[in-house]
Amino acid sequence: MAVAAEPSAVRTPPLPAAHVEARRQLDRLWQRGRDFLGCDFAIMGGAMTWVSDRNLVAAISNGGGFGVIACGSMNPTQLDAEIAATRALTDRPFGVNLITLHPQLSELIEVCARRKLSHIVLAGGLPGGGAVGQIKEAGAKLLCFAPALALAKRLVRAGADAIIIEGMEAGGHIGPVSTSVLAQEILPALLDVPVFVAGGIGRGEAVVSFLEMGAAGVQLGTRFVCARESVAHPNFKQAFIRAHARDAVASVQLDARFPVIPVRALHNGGTERFMEMQREVIGRFLAGEVAQKDAQLEIEHFWAGALRRAVIDGDVENGSLMAGQSVGMVGSEQTTREILDELVDQAIAQLAARNSLSRAARDGGRASAEG
Ligand SMILES: Cc1cc2nc3c(=O)[nH]c(=O)nc-3n(C[C@H](O)[C@H](O)[C@H](O)COP(=O)(O)O)c2cc1C
Repeated sequence: MAVAAEPSAVRTPPLPAAHVEARRQLDRLWQRGRDFLGCDFAIMGGAMTWVSDRNLVAAISNGGGFGVIACGSMNPTQLDAEIAATRALTDRPFGVNLITLHPQLSELIEVCARRKLSHIVLAGGLPGGGAVGQIKEAGAKLLCFAPALALAKRLVRAGADAIIIEGMEAGGHIGPVSTSVLAQEILPALLDVPVFVAGGIGRGEAVVSFLEMGAAGVQLGTRFVCARESVAHPNFKQAFIRAHARDAVASVQLDARFPVIPVRALHNGGTERFMEMQREVIGRFLAGEVAQKDAQLEIEHFWAGALRRAVIDGDVENGSLMAGQSVGMVGSEQTTREILDELVDQAIAQLAARNSLSRAARDGGRASAEG
């Protein structure tokens, strides 16, 4: 006959005092971010077009973080269905990321308003007053990306309730400045609203360091691509698992007359062909065979549909493998909850180790004073 386990046999052992103290410290450090987002951990799952759908977003929010739907090029009907489907999978808060250049931005905001969405992230350029006003009227909290301190302040004056700063280590479209420099410039100077730091964050120790500099929380994208709940194609996930930090490179522009929007992605056959294509198109322009405007369009169209080809179809040779440098810290497919717990455990271990060190230094000092 099976014997029921003694209650004491199944009880988890109590955490060491240093860990209990560290957990409280972490809660204090990201309290502002948790309150703003309405979740347990101030970790946002950065919206990733084609990747951040209902499955990953709900898994991040259910795991204690804050998921964000990537609207990308969805139309209002598709966004409406995605929000409804996400709500069916989680009763925790989540957000929607809208691209300011979307031709139906106003209709997309209307969908969010009708669905009473609590948080909207505006990405892809400075938002116009109309969009900001519409979001405020809907009662949603507005988060905006700021690439510099002056712009961050302007966005706050215009109505942003929180700012995301994203360094060039990040995956996808990037600015020219690193996360560590943006953090030093903006965190000590922007105290009115919560600031979330993104770009290159792969471990909990880094999360602690930005919180201690004044961040309200963090945003990670690359680390969540290989979550079990992510719909990314197995080929896309394998490419991430194999890659090192140095494989995630920014797109290269060959000629100042033909600007290329910088995108960080894993180097592949498509990257090589993009260089060849620029060379060939610029050659035709110099030979007078094509107008500058048409040459620029050819260059811009090269990557059209390429992210979908890689994420959904699994064409990792020709598609765009948008990834941040933290890809080197993606070692396997894990559940979203495991990823979040790992980040939180690393953050707590980091704080606990420091608590133990300062306790040992204090005790050592006392012992030598007494001796
Ligand atoms: C595959 C991929 C797609 C992305 N798509 C978007 C997007 O549609 N909108 C957006 O604002 N950011 C996008 N990002 C950026 C992420 O939201 C996030 O800010 C970034 O990944 C954080 O840096 P990390 O990759 O170093 O963690 C994308 C990133 C990746 C890797």
